[in-house]
Amino acid sequence: STSKLWGGRFSESTDAFVQAFTASVEFDRRLYRHDIAGSIAHATMLARAGVLTEAERDLIIEGLAAIREEIEHGEFPWSTALEDVHMNIEARLTDRIGAAGKKLHTGRSRNDQVATDIRLWLREEIDALLAEIRRLQEGLLGLAEREAATVMPGFTHLQTAQPVTFGHHMLAWFEMLERDHGRLTDARRRVNVMPLGAAALAGTSYPIDRAYTAELLGFDAPAENSLDAVSDRDFAIEFCAAAALVMTHLSRFSEELVLWASAQFDFIDLPDRFCTGSSIMPQKKNPDVPELVRGKTGRVNGHLVGLLTLMKSQPLAYNKDNQEDKEPLFDTVDTLKGSLRAYADMVPAIRVKAGAMREAARRGFSTATDLADYLVRRGLPFRDAHEVVGKAVAHGVASGRDLAEMDLDTLRGFSAAIGEDVYAVLTLEGSLAARDHLGGTAPDQVRAAIARARGRISR
Ligand code: ARG
Repeated sequence: STSKLWGGRFSESTDAFVQAFTASVEFDRRLYRHDIAGSIAHATMLARAGVLTEAERDLIIEGLAAIREEIEHGEFPWSTALEDVHMNIEARLTDRIGAAGKKLHTGRSRNDQVATDIRLWLREEIDALLAEIRRLQEGLLGLAEREAATVMPGFTHLQTAQPVTFGHHMLAWFEMLERDHGRLTDARRRVNVMPLGAAALAGTSYPIDRAYTAELLGFDAPAENSLDAVSDRDFAIEFCAAAALVMTHLSRFSEELVLWASAQFDFIDLPDRFCTGSSIMPQKKNPDVPELVRGKTGRVNGHLVGLLTLMKSQPLAYNKDNQEDKEPLFDTVDTLKGSLRAYADMVPAIRVKAGAMREAARRGFSTATDLADYLVRRGLPFRDAHEVVGKAVAHGVASGRDLAEMDLDTLRGFSAAIGEDVYAVLTLEGSLAARDHLGGTAPDQVRAAIARARGRISR
């Protein structure tokens, strides 16, 4: 036999490279707090079921608490030879408290243990991410409120389309994040199910009380099927899918901020503290934070595909393949958390350049649809009105003038239905105010939407 916790049936020790190759402690040690919490609950349940004595239970709980302290003070002797976080802690427990430590693993396997640890860890991380999404949403609402009536050109095909308010644009990002919040909340329900008791795969012969352990750990329920409980990582994949969507939203947002901060758009100013300079070009102020968030979206999308691929051919029940679930999952959480934090800090500090945005909206014939709608109110069929306005725009392009800058005679040259009152609809404010319905860009609607949004996120 060898010195391993599982060494009984082995006659030679592990190849040195294989030991390093199969070990996970370098990365799974970050689960230590949840591993210890799971073990304390397991020991508590075992004592109540009469499998451990109360004295053994107390020794185990005190020993684990002391180990947690050791880890947090950087004094824990982590060992690759002990493979993973679970066996490192278990071996240390026996070092510290003796024989009782060897009883902790009664009625348990690393298979249900690791699945439980990841779920406990991910549940906590999801709660932190949800709070960070809310903080970013609040920042967006504040910015939207400040700029509820600020005109900017709205785009389709990145060509000037119709005027919108900057506040309305920010509320679009709010809505995307609201769905992201819902997806993560929903995923959390499926994360919060307890594998413990499944043991290696089939359950255990001890008189365990899974409902009690689940209650101790704050799980909604024990998993129904032991084979499923130890083998599937769909909860992690689902989380990564939701995370990939949050990142995709932040990436689109980033793309706009990068464009808007350019000299060519000049719509916004990002605070210096969120930008960096160039080592050669003295004039540069680069929007690094949005660029990095856009870039980091790639690795999160990659982790999602990585985990799907990890799972796709695994037979029931647990396979060592699943040890590969952790690094992509951890990196997804870290990347998402950092990106949300940077955005939640940065968004309230975005400075809007209202004059440049107004000028861009004016230059792009953004009220052309309003002129067509005006002609429809004067009795023209929409298709004919479209044609008339198209000709007027062509004239504006050729003569370098916006529709609102053409005199009445010129406009009437395109349609006799045009009257003096046309100028009210050709202005940017007139166009905005006209879109006065739920979900529209009229400043009053934007303010009403902000009030509703505040109610929705405070529920
Ligand atoms: N380190 C392992 C993992 O991350 C723990 C479970 C190992 N179980 C086993 N039977 N080898 O999945």
